[in-house]
Amino acid sequence: MATGIFQIEGDFHKDGSDEDDYEISDDIQEMEEMDHDHMIEALGDDVEKVPLCQETVNPKEKLGPSDFDLLKVLGKGGYGKVFLVRKRTGRDADKIFAMKVLKKATIVRNQKDTAHTKAERNILEAIKFPFIVDLLYAFQTGKKLYLILEYLPGGELFMHLEREGVFLEDTASFYLAEITLALEHLHSEGIIYRDLKPENILLDLKGHIKLTDFGLCKESIFHADRTHTFCGTIEYMAPEVLTRSGHGKAVDWWSLGTLMFDMLTGAPPFCSENRKKTQEKILKAKLVLPPYLTAESRDLLRKLLKRHPDSRLGGGTDDADPLKKHAFFRHIDWKDLYDRNVEPPFKPAVSCEEDVSQFDQRFTKETPVDSPCDKMLSDSVDKIFQGFTYVAPSIFENWGKGGCQSFSELHLSRSLKSPRKTQAMSFEF
Ligand code: ADE
Repeated sequence: MATGIFQIEGDFHKDGSDEDDYEISDDIQEMEEMDHDHMIEALGDDVEKVPLCQETVNPKEKLGPSDFDLLKVLGKGGYGKVFLVRKRTGRDADKIFAMKVLKKATIVRNQKDTAHTKAERNILEAIKFPFIVDLLYAFQTGKKLYLILEYLPGGELFMHLEREGVFLEDTASFYLAEITLALEHLHSEGIIYRDLKPENILLDLKGHIKLTDFGLCKESIFHADRTHTFCGTIEYMAPEVLTRSGHGKAVDWWSLGTLMFDMLTGAPPFCSENRKKTQEKILKAKLVLPPYLTAESRDLLRKLLKRHPDSRLGGGTDDADPLKKHAFFRHIDWKDLYDRNVEPPFKPAVSCEEDVSQFDQRFTKETPVDSPCDKMLSDSVDKIFQGFTYVAPSIFENWGKGGCQSFSELHLSRSLKSPRKTQAMSFEF
């Protein structure tokens, strides 16, 4: 492989003095007279050595499924599968990711209104936030869509809750506070999460939360309208979502209340043996708060689980502000929390970056195969997926910041689910 040498950012002039400039000129003149190997030696660490190959000369890789080795199955649903994968090629070679594979045909079947709503990819492209899963790449084949996401080895938050039974209020307030920041950020970007529920909250290696699964989000709350389909768990859904009586960002604060109730008591506030009865309870049943809850949590639960969105805490124009000021969160330093400087209550018991011990063995024991999918879409239907392909800007930004593992390997040097368990998914394009 040929190696080219490029001086980057004039890192020679560390103190910016004139003297240095003269020295550099002399250095360069000397180098011009050197052979290739001597020149590399003379330049030492102050240069970037870039192998000349497809990835460096033409960095916009065209990715496909064959660029990823399937290692494990992490989850499955009506939509498709999530795999643990290792990237085989180019940038990020050898790096571990989660790969979500969606069947176009299934998505098209659920499509109700192409004009109003957009898919997960668009939202994840727009959103880069400490508590929201990062999308690195997206691509498609004739029949499937592929999302390459950061892998979150900590598994579902509610697996930890199931193990503990209930959380102490301080533990709950940490997770609920990180979720509050994530929702506040989504709202500020015009996105309603709408489907906040236990299986969509995963933990990263350190134990911080990350929201995943943006399949049901409304992309724009500024043009909010009646919603369409929903399926799967409804226990965490706001009454106005169930009655389709219009919904704004307050729906997410209701869901946060149901999660909080679940964390502190072991079950969501309104549940029954079937969907219909659960729905009735969500719409009409009295909220019963166990006596062992503190005054602060009882007060916050009552304020979040108000059926009328306008009187619900968070339902105003100041969105998350009143939640963040509530006494339940009195121990939270919001700035430290945002900076991920608050130590999470549990550190996931994982041994390496590809550890899948926090995921359900029903999935991880399966042989990972990206099954062939017969249904071919007509060209006109396939047009819906135009523009799906994506490479995160961070991938390009890191090119040159030493931020990509594969680059350093290329000798780049620069000084330089219970109700908690059901799967739900519905796509709206
Ligand atoms: N990253 C994004 N989705 C994920 C999932 N379901 N499991 C693990 N990591 C993920």
